[in-house]
Amino acid sequence: MEDISPGCRDGRTRLLCAAERRVLLPHQARGDCPLGCRCGGGVVRALDLFCCDGGAAMGLRNAGFDNIVGIDIDPHPNYPFDFIQGDATNPPVDPKDFDFIWASPPCQAFSDATINTHHLHQNLIPQTRKLLEASGKPYCIENVPKAPIKKHLVLCGAMFGLKTYRHRHFEISGFRTEQPRHPNHLKKSSNGDIFCICGSSPLMPGHFGNKLKRKQGRVKLKEKISEAGGVLKLYQETMGIYHSTKPLFIAEAVPPSYSEYIGKEFFRTHTFYKQLGVPK
Ligand SMILES: C[S@@+](CC[C@H](N)C(=O)[O-])C[C@H]1O[C@@H](n2cnc3c(N)ncnc32)[C@H](O)[C@@H]1O
Repeated sequence: MEDISPGCRDGRTRLLCAAERRVLLPHQARGDCPLGCRCGGGVVRALDLFCCDGGAAMGLRNAGFDNIVGIDIDPHPNYPFDFIQGDATNPPVDPKDFDFIWASPPCQAFSDATINTHHLHQNLIPQTRKLLEASGKPYCIENVPKAPIKKHLVLCGAMFGLKTYRHRHFEISGFRTEQPRHPNHLKKSSNGDIFCICGSSPLMPGHFGNKLKRKQGRVKLKEKISEAGGVLKLYQETMGIYHSTKPLFIAEAVPPSYSEYIGKEFFRTHTFYKQLGVPK
């Protein structure tokens, strides 16, 4: 293992390589460390495949990734980092140029929210996994519980104090993640204590159980939407995503607290990065 200067720890988290007090800009190309180690000149890069408006990306930034490049087939002017429109299964960048790859292939072929139209949607998971394996880089594939990915980690909003349960499964390669304890689901959507964020409006039917609960839930929900100042505000607060102004894109997102957790686990357990410590 190469020698890693404590200076590189500063360099990675503050974009300043302490060895030469050299400031590195977030979007600067990966450089060489003046100490000759593999810190990449202080820049840790993440590739965000199927990025949408960047819910997962915000969490990766909070975890300590300096440079994030998102790829999506559709335009996303609100994506908060570098964005390239393109096919994530044949990306316009070389995945090997990144330190970590996040992939959120579409879930509509497996989601309970689209149960009647599964057959209309493509399963992009096999080719995504093939691409990630070929890169040789650490990666995380995210999807809904019924998607055909390995269940290395399950996250729920209750683990992060969110007002949505939103279970997601994660297939992890190249580092380890500890499974957080899963709190009981004590809050009820029929009381307006939690919300199901899927689709462009939480008032879509089917989110509250039986007929009576549905009726109660819709009344409560209307109150909560008005308290929050509209559907967008409710979505933003529930998911912890404030940069996106499109409820539909927020509804497709990974809550940043999930990807932040996974990003921090990457820095904590990856054989190279764990020597540097979790970024502050
Ligand atoms: C579940 S969303 C991703 C959510 C995102 N990770 C977040 O946290 O905000 C899936 C995205 O995949 C995109 N998509 C679908 N097919 C694609 C393809 N072949 N290449 C790139 N993006 C694609 C969709 O436009 C959509 O934005």
